[in-house]
Amino acid sequence: MNDIQALVRAHYPDNTWQDIAQRDGALPEVLKAQSNPDQNLRDIPFDRYTSPDFFNREIEHMWKRVWQFACRDEHVAEVGDYYVYDLARLSIVIVRTENGLKGYYNSCLHRGTKLKPSGDAGWAPSLRCPYHAWEWNLEGTVKNIPCEWEFPQLDRAKACLPEVRVESWNGFVFINFDKEAPSLLDYLEVLPEHFRNWDLTGWYVHTHVRKHLPGNWKLAQDAFMEAYHTPYVHPEMTHVVGDHNMQHDIFSDHISRDLCAMATPSPTSTMEMSQQALLDSMLVGDGSIVGERTLVPEGKTARWVMAEQVKAQMLADYGLDYSKFSVPEMIDSLKYNVFPNVAFYPAPGLALIQLFRPDGHDPDKSIFDQMVLRPKPANNGAFDVGELIEIGEDEAFASVEGMDPFLASVLDQDTDIMRWQREGMYASHKGAATLSIYQESRLRHVQDTLDKYLEGKK
Ligand code: FES
Ligand SMILES: [Fe+2]
Repeated sequence: MNDIQALVRAHYPDNTWQDIAQRDGALPEVLKAQSNPDQNLRDIPFDRYTSPDFFNREIEHMWKRVWQFACRDEHVAEVGDYYVYDLARLSIVIVRTENGLKGYYNSCLHRGTKLKPSGDAGWAPSLRCPYHAWEWNLEGTVKNIPCEWEFPQLDRAKACLPEVRVESWNGFVFINFDKEAPSLLDYLEVLPEHFRNWDLTGWYVHTHVRKHLPGNWKLAQDAFMEAYHTPYVHPEMTHVVGDHNMQHDIFSDHISRDLCAMATPSPTSTMEMSQQALLDSMLVGDGSIVGERTLVPEGKTARWVMAEQVKAQMLADYGLDYSKFSVPEMIDSLKYNVFPNVAFYPAPGLALIQLFRPDGHDPDKSIFDQMVLRPKPANNGAFDVGELIEIGEDEAFASVEGMDPFLASVLDQDTDIMRWQREGMYASHKGAATLSIYQESRLRHVQDTLDKYLEGKK
């Protein structure tokens, strides 16, 4: 145990995430691990969030060199399926071909028109430009050029669509603009080892909501990397979520995580709650997957009951056997962040993807995608991948049909505070953020890794 971990233990005696998680039984090794390297406790200048120059450097030196999550395998399951991934003004069309996944720059080789509109997804037998109908095979070779005799200077064999790299892991499809980058598996560092028992290839995107947010992509992601704000921005969660005593781990340049206990009170909560009361008020996350409420047996916890319910439901509805899994692996918010901008939550009770990106070429705007995962039906049953629901900055998550109402209201609270933070950054005399040593350590870590890219050290 290092100094930071000892401090956390001293502040939350018998009430750290490890204490809560181990109360219901042994944990797998990956959940027992803790990792909190020393950091440079410098202030973080706000121009890293607001400056167009900094934004341009991020695009050139970071975004064009990192592996970035674009979509799931099920979005591009059949030959001809395509999915458009946008990053600021960059845009890629990911296509399933006979020879696997390909990613093409979304720009026609004639006069540059986008081959598919931003945000689009669907099926097509070929990629045909909407302007003068230049057309490419799914494999990227020229299929047809109207009036081709007018282009004697064009070498048809060389007029293939330029590609980016596409690789997938655990059902998650990533792209990389950098031809020289390490493989995706290398980039993911400890993540594949941590997810060894959390196979998400049999899961699919059930609901997909995209919201346009008021603020830089890092500002948006920051709000989801700490629960320091939870008792103040989401007071209704205080009695049922372990926020300030959440566990934060930094494993390597690209991978960090937080582990947040459900159905346990915040250390800030003053309310005495029985295990039954905790279970009854447990509404966090995708509530519909937890199912009917029941009584907490003598000597058991609300957390144990919830985990048993999810296990029973997974077996009955999907034929998935989670009998050997620990309680937190079923119900907790286990959030793994992959640098720069995506979080994967593997627990069946709260299986999510959250993605944060620049929105156009504007440091002050971002796009937030939230995808809720569900298991594919047993026996190869049919399922529909969730259609994209896109909402504007002024539209509430609560207005989205089918979204868990509790989760929606929490996300709306986060959006509101983001707007105030952005405005305050511009109004600031100090011009920089002062981050805490533990709860906000992962925000600092993102900035540290970002610096490595900007300084050419990665
Ligand atoms: S711009 Fe695409 S065919 Fe002309
Ligand atoms: Fe929040």
